[in-house]
Amino acid sequence: MKSWWRMIVAVVALALVIESVASQQQNDPPLNSGCSQYNASNTLEFFSNLNTTLANLRREITVNRTYFGTQQQARTASPVYTMFQCRKYLSTADCASCFDKAALDIRSICRLANGARVINDDCFLRYESNGFYSTATALGNAGRCNNDTIRNSSTINFNVAVGDALSNLLTATPRIKSYYAAITEKVLGSNTTVYAVAQCAETVSELECQNCMNVAYENIKSCPPRSGARAIDAGCFMRYANTPFFASNQTTNLKKYLNAGGSSNKKAIIGGVAVGIGLVLLLLALLLWYILSRKKRVAQRGHILGSTELQGPVTYNYKELKSATKNFSEEYKLGEGGSGDVYKGIVKSGNIVAVKRLALSTTKAKASFESEVRLISNVHHRNLIRLLGCSSKGPDLLLVYEYMENGSLDRFLYGGKRGTLNWKQRFDIIFGTARGLAYLHEQFHVRIIHRDIKPGNILLDDELQPKIADFGLARLLPEDQSHLNTKFAGTLGYTAPEYALQGQLSEKVDTYSFGVVVLEIVSGRRCSDTNIESDTDFLLEYAWKLHENDMHLKLVDDTLDPNDYTTEDAKKIIEIALMCTQSPASLRPTMSEVVVLLSSDDRPFEQRPLSKPTFVHSENRIRDDSSNTPPQSVSNATASLSEFVGR
Ligand SMILES: *[C@@H]1O[C@H](CO)[C@@H](O)[C@H](O)[C@H]1NC(C)=O
Ligand SMILES: *[C@@H]1O[C@H](CO)[C@@H](O)[C@H](O)[C@H]1NC(C)=O
Ligand SMILES: *[C@@H]1O[C@H](CO)[C@@H](O)[C@H](O)[C@H]1NC(C)=O
Repeated sequence: MKSWWRMIVAVVALALVIESVASQQQNDPPLNSGCSQYNASNTLEFFSNLNTTLANLRREITVNRTYFGTQQQARTASPVYTMFQCRKYLSTADCASCFDKAALDIRSICRLANGARVINDDCFLRYESNGFYSTATALGNAGRCNNDTIRNSSTINFNVAVGDALSNLLTATPRIKSYYAAITEKVLGSNTTVYAVAQCAETVSELECQNCMNVAYENIKSCPPRSGARAIDAGCFMRYANTPFFASNQTTNLKKYLNAGGSSNKKAIIGGVAVGIGLVLLLLALLLWYILSRKKRVAQRGHILGSTELQGPVTYNYKELKSATKNFSEEYKLGEGGSGDVYKGIVKSGNIVAVKRLALSTTKAKASFESEVRLISNVHHRNLIRLLGCSSKGPDLLLVYEYMENGSLDRFLYGGKRGTLNWKQRFDIIFGTARGLAYLHEQFHVRIIHRDIKPGNILLDDELQPKIADFGLARLLPEDQSHLNTKFAGTLGYTAPEYALQGQLSEKVDTYSFGVVVLEIVSGRRCSDTNIESDTDFLLEYAWKLHENDMHLKLVDDTLDPNDYTTEDAKKIIEIALMCTQSPASLRPTMSEVVVLLSSDDRPFEQRPLSKPTFVHSENRIRDDSSNTPPQSVSNATASLSEFVGR
């Protein structure tokens, strides 16, 4: 009797196992997926933006019948960038259903993450809070060999066929306009055929597609005689199999893309060697290949692909950074600042970084250094410079940042590159800077007030998009230096009056500095320069007078092409700048309000009149006609150091 029961239990258990296997197959997990370790800060806005991009992409696929698309909601406080790609052997309907599954998977796997990707055999979907479209190959790229090896045909011939197919794809794919190729290759002496595809994201350059293909090829070239393999990367895909996964009439003719390369040459040489020296060498080579590839396959179990899975700060070796900066040589110096000098550094990998040598090594600074670094290195925003790591063991505290070839904004406003920025580029710099500040003030989990916004702290990337540098260091500074190192060249410059004179710190201090910087960007003049017409008015005062007389255009940099902007554009930006520099601080907008103002089409001030800024002159006297504030000495000001406010 007992054995009957046991049997029934076993059968039921087996049935359950079978069912769970079957349902898993119905709902295959993606080939590869990854989620950012950070959640979106404004969930509702972020995911409603994501939904918009997904809906637009789906429309592109089904209505325009495209196989690749990007969609973004960039001009918002929670930007979303989304990319989707189908392999071109799919029908439009199959592409759409691959998209639907990927969109479901990406949500259920990554939930609230602010970046995610899923890669399938047939399609690829990724979203991020930063632009990533031009990235092709990224850390975490990998090859996956099938577990089973081929049967019923010669291993060597199969390996040769796969090798030929992959190397042809490697050469041809970047040269094809659509960056896509599907080919078949007959295995000599058997009725097996090798099927292979390769594809790059259409937003990468030909060179980047080639780089990505090289990596993909390296990742899977040693998979045969396994029956199939995939190479995954951020911007490309490569796959082969011994069974068809696309229709035989879907292949690409590679002839004209291969002629320019030396690939047929290579085949001839391989053939000659094989015939001439014989199979022994080939077998030895294969054996070596196999051993090496097994080793490599173990090492490649990484799962980082682009910015979706960021790591914490890297600890750098002091000696390495010292030699990377040629012993902190003058030649490598990029800039000087209150908190320390910055040097260009070429690290061992060949990458260029910016190394900041902190001008302080008090025990207090050292004690809080590592926790501050961990905090700052978690700040991820396209308009904020990335802190890559630090070194705290050597004689100086060093911070390592991403390096910006274009340097800082001041060079473009009144330095060597004066007059090279057009109106749109200037607008983008203003908009990006506002977004970066809004993130620091309102979206990061700890509120960070920058306190030193000026063109020298706004760096420009390759596309002249702004990245704010030097944020979050204030807690490391000795207290008496925190705000008083502003040079009072007869003007408050970028520093808000209530902070310079009374040490009152709030995020509106950054709003003020931002307003001054906007005036500089529009006018191409330093805030401390007096203007030509009246040598007593500094930029802010001059701008205010022009505003009162409705003569905004007079302020605009005359190196700008007048056809690039309208009077309304100029007026709007100048009014936003003046709105930001009002006093008291409560009249100034928050930075997220500034972002909204900049991205809306209307001029928002017609109802609400601007109030006049507080002007401060050389003797540090406030010349504020409305409130007759008595002169205050700067040195009496005390700083509040409550810069970080936990949320
Ligand atoms: C986005 O779309 C998903 C699926 O349709 C839905 O569950 C979610 O509520 C939407 N999110 C927002 C913020 O609209
Ligand atoms: C070719 O394939 C068929 C079945 O697909 C098989 O019966 C036959 O033996 C194969 N021939 C060779 C030479 O492998
Ligand atoms: C490929 O063949 C299928 C039938 O096998 C056919 O429906 C399809 O239209 C063909 N495609 C092309 C591009 O010729």
